[in-house]
Amino acid sequence: MDLIQKYGRTALIAGASEGIGASFAYYLAAAGMDLVLIARRVQPLGQLAELLKNEHKINVTCTSCDLADPDALRQIQESINDREINLLVYNAAQSYIGPFTMNSAEDNSRITRLNMITPLNMVHYFGEKMLVKKRGAVILMTSLAGFQGSGFLTLYAATKAFNRILAESLWYEWKDRGVDVIACCAGATATPGYLNSNPGRSGFFVPRVQSPEEVVKECLRKLGSQPSVITGSGNRFASFIMQKILPRKLAITIMGDTTRKMYGL
Ligand SMILES: NC(=O)c1ccc[n+]([C@@H]2O[C@H](COP(=O)([O-])OP(=O)(O)OC[C@H]3O[C@@H](n4cnc5c(N)ncnc54)[C@H](OP(=O)(O)O)[C@@H]3O)[C@@H](O)[C@H]2O)c1
Repeated sequence: MDLIQKYGRTALIAGASEGIGASFAYYLAAAGMDLVLIARRVQPLGQLAELLKNEHKINVTCTSCDLADPDALRQIQESINDREINLLVYNAAQSYIGPFTMNSAEDNSRITRLNMITPLNMVHYFGEKMLVKKRGAVILMTSLAGFQGSGFLTLYAATKAFNRILAESLWYEWKDRGVDVIACCAGATATPGYLNSNPGRSGFFVPRVQSPEEVVKECLRKLGSQPSVITGSGNRFASFIMQKILPRKLAITIMGDTTRKMYGL
């Protein structure tokens, strides 16, 4: 698919400095798109921008913004002015791994803003403009953790379920209005965020860890043709067993047990 022809020239990636977000930047740059890259850390964003500008002769701008700030959308609006955004990737997220009550209410609110409120606000703002132009695309990164209760990943899993349902619902609302929406449901992916969480050995039910490139390639391939994609055949198989074969109680128990073992909880 020619992304520029279908959606327009400019993509915004929220959470672009490393991992899956940086991988989206590589692929969209290779497709010739101009990029707006957002994350908190200026240095890795700047390095990535320089690399992509030199390699692909595209326009790349960077905005440093904490997407957990209550006024994150306003900061982004100020920094990009009225620039048209044709493809939005909301990738940034954080998780707390551990017993639910051990995390502070304040941190829960921060994670909720980062994982749910800011993507909601951004999809509302940029999606409305795309609908006026009758073209555009939105990709929300979500996770297999959001398919069922996932003990010790409780808030993260709940926020990821929110994003999947948001994307799938908008896929239906907007599919005949020129705007494609997809929820990209990844399983374990070898990113700095995942590797820094120090996952250990876990149960028997664990699919292969994917690379960020694999996740992004599959997601872009499915954009426009379906409301959500589970990346990786191992993840699809595991999800099939968990959602369609096992009783829900057992699926939830397996998720909780696996997380507990992986993180020695
Ligand atoms: N990796 C996995 O195993 C996995 C599995 C399933 C789903 N996912 C989903 O895939 C997405 C990306 O995961 P990842 O592993 O690539 O994450 P990561 O390696 O931790 O990278 C996250 C990106 O988001 C940015 N970010 C984090 N907090 C931010 C904040 N408060 N404000 C602005 N930017 C922020 C980070 O940049 P700065 O630190 O510079 O701000 C970074 O660029 C997430 O939505 C995650 O839920 C990942």
